[in-house]
Amino acid sequence: MPRPYRAAFIQPPVLRPYSVGIEPADGAKVENYVVTQMAGTAKILPRLSTPILGYNGIFPGPTIEVERGTKTTLTVKNKLPATHPTHGHVLATSTHLHGSASLPQYDGYASDVTMPGFQKKYYFPNFQPARTLWYHDHGVHYTAQNAYSGLAAQYRIHDPQERGLLPQGEFDVGLTITDAMFAANGAMGYDDNTHSGLWGDVILVNGVPWPVMKVKRRIYRFRVLNASISRSLRLALSTNDAMTMVATDGGLMPAPVTVTSWRHGGAERYEVLIDFSKYKVGQRVELRNLSNKNNVDYDNTNKVMAFDVVGDPVDKSDTTWNTVPTVLAPNTDVMGLTKGMVEQKRYMRVARDDKTNMWTIGGSSWAEVIASGYQKVFAQVAMDSVEEWEIENKSGGWFHPVHIHLVDFKIISRNGKAPMPYEAGPKDVVYVGEGEKVKVLMRFGPHKGRYMVHCHNLPHEDHDMMTQFRVALNANEVDEHDPMTAARPEWDND
Ligand code: C2O
Ligand code: CU
Repeated sequence: MPRPYRAAFIQPPVLRPYSVGIEPADGAKVENYVVTQMAGTAKILPRLSTPILGYNGIFPGPTIEVERGTKTTLTVKNKLPATHPTHGHVLATSTHLHGSASLPQYDGYASDVTMPGFQKKYYFPNFQPARTLWYHDHGVHYTAQNAYSGLAAQYRIHDPQERGLLPQGEFDVGLTITDAMFAANGAMGYDDNTHSGLWGDVILVNGVPWPVMKVKRRIYRFRVLNASISRSLRLALSTNDAMTMVATDGGLMPAPVTVTSWRHGGAERYEVLIDFSKYKVGQRVELRNLSNKNNVDYDNTNKVMAFDVVGDPVDKSDTTWNTVPTVLAPNTDVMGLTKGMVEQKRYMRVARDDKTNMWTIGGSSWAEVIASGYQKVFAQVAMDSVEEWEIENKSGGWFHPVHIHLVDFKIISRNGKAPMPYEAGPKDVVYVGEGEKVKVLMRFGPHKGRYMVHCHNLPHEDHDMMTQFRVALNANEVDEHDPMTAARPEWDND
């Protein structure tokens, strides 16, 4: 077993485009990327190696960084083995860029799978404000095993506003946090407790168990992604010092929020500033996990990583070294939504069916969507309409991070009270805790078509807590963006 704070912090490599061009239709710059899904080995444990599946064979996969307004294509080659080496299922994958308003046929629709030996070219618009996104597998019914085996990576959209306000370069640091369990031979173990969730005893940051990062005496920006398939986190510093939340799933908050800890469910992204200038050279500050209800904790799951403060010179011409902006993005469309704009209200319950041990969302499941020929929807929404959805978890036994594709939303209440202060930014996942009822506002668009909504506890999603909504178009109307037919994978000759 690995022990905390023995390994050095690392970040995944940044992927370079294989070509750059201009889109004839609108003159936009296009960067073309390719990744290959393949089996690989990771060095996580002291003496053993661990088989993984990864984008380019690594976990996390390579980071993609793009400027707002530059379009991207991502060709995903499926060179995985025909079946999963330990679980045996067919490695049919679908790649979702979580946080992007992509067209339906490029949104990683679960049943739009690419088989081993094939490749699919995805088109991403990147017109949305700067944010931390991630790409991960969404293959129908096996998303949990595939993401857990390593098919997950960060993707960032930058823009001038964010570049002018927040630390960049080496001070802009991705933390992709996961948990895992290991068998005696070094392979990753998998036990989802009859689809309730997987709780590993090892915490990984960027694929390294409890790493140690050297930090200078200045402010750092951390893009924290909880990529665990089930575990939720409550992050805090060992000093109990305050941190500054500056961005949520959909990018900059209107204004920074001071936190000493926060609840962080699967797939949520929070960007937080930590000021190390107040610590002495040689001091160690730990990032801890205080955990939340209905997680299973082990000896060291209360630890995440450590920061060792070093005396290297700090460049004070970079004003972000000690400045926390007082205003971030006060005028985004999503944070400007109000109850007065709401055209339609809906109610969605997330629940367990105790007879079948299956999970439902809005009274439905993905099996019902499949059975309907992908036509059944939870909601038929009008283009550009503003809706209020109330999502309720009546159970005390589970929490559900609910993700709505396509849109950014604004959380307006939790159990009739204000949301958590650190949730006051654009979101696409909302933590629906035990006995909680949350309300969110969103405007649907700009694309027509069918998009998924599901729990991001991935064993829940796979069994079968996922449904869909349709923007514009009616059932059986011709859908030029039909995710099952509009953009098919191709045989890969390489
Ligand atoms: Cu991060 Cu539908 O997923
Ligand atoms: Cu769930």
